Amino acid sequence: MTKITNDQGLPWKRVWVTGAGRGIGAALTRLFCEEGLTVYASSRTQQDLDVLQQKLSQYPGTMIPVPLDICNKENINSLIESWKKENNFPELVILNAGTHDPFPAQEFSAERCEQLFDINLMGTIKCLEPVLKHYMAHNRGHIAVMASVAGYRGLPTAAAYGASKAALIHLCEALKLDLLGTDVKLQVINPGFVRTPLTDKNTFAMPDLMEPEDAAMAIIKGLLKDRFEIAFPARFVRILKLLRLLPYNCYFRLVRRITGAQ
Ligand SMILES: NC(=O)c1ccc[n+]([C@@H]2O[C@H](COP(=O)([O-])OP(=O)(O)OC[C@H]3O[C@@H](n4cnc5c(N)ncnc54)[C@H](OP(=O)(O)O)[C@@H]3O)[C@@H](O)[C@H]2O)c1
Repeated sequence: MTKITNDQGLPWKRVWVTGAGRGIGAALTRLFCEEGLTVYASSRTQQDLDVLQQKLSQYPGTMIPVPLDICNKENINSLIESWKKENNFPELVILNAGTHDPFPAQEFSAERCEQLFDINLMGTIKCLEPVLKHYMAHNRGHIAVMASVAGYRGLPTAAAYGASKAALIHLCEALKLDLLGTDVKLQVINPGFVRTPLTDKNTFAMPDLMEPEDAAMAIIKGLLKDRFEIAFPARFVRILKLLRLLPYNCYFRLVRRITGAQ
């Protein structure tokens, strides 16, 4: 068992993780259960949640499957209402659910963009609204939004994905400023490549690829700090942040050379 903290444990009792059925969300759920937390774990596929719950039954924490489509506002709101009524609102919410659908300009499609935006951006926003309202009303709570380093600048075949993640980064930056002076903590998570079913479909070499367990550990360590952005792995993030500073002509030339984009 990987121990994250000293004997004092983590500062939360209950956490809601969206996109917990597999990949990074499942790894986060596991680490939280190892640390004794109650995890409300959401995804659309009930079976993924059931399998994970079975696997995690040996740990001191409790995983509670909460099957949910983050695009369904009614379901989100009834979940939120049940927490309020039963007085067990999670102190930490990780809005991690998301998807990827890479396509080049030759296949550009408003429908595929809309599908990605509906989940990555609007789905996250639909979960964020009632959580933020509740936390602001009580002047406490901790929210982390999953974006990506792909939101820093345009990358080949990622027009829709990158735009959805850039929008989330921007949204969090603005909200962070609005929340200054309150005790509501908001962070944005920008991972590089993590080996999950989402990246398994990539056919190109993924630099500094991380395992989901390491990503989950980096996220939890970041949540314990006061920095707004949780970004990893460090070397890859540093390179992308330098690329962000380049003027367009240098940026396009360099990315073309690195990725072999035509
Ligand atoms: N893997 C990477 O390299 C990487 C890098 C940067 C950022 N990220 C971000 O990290 C997050 C997790 O990625 P991952 O790699 O772990 O992906 P993944 O393995 O595909 O897992 C995504 C999870 O989100 C759930 N999900 C998708 N759409 C949903 C919806 N509408 N409602 C509820 N749950 C939904 C999926 O379950 P169902 O399909 O059953 O709903 C699944 O449990 C995503 O936001 C992704 O963009 C990943």
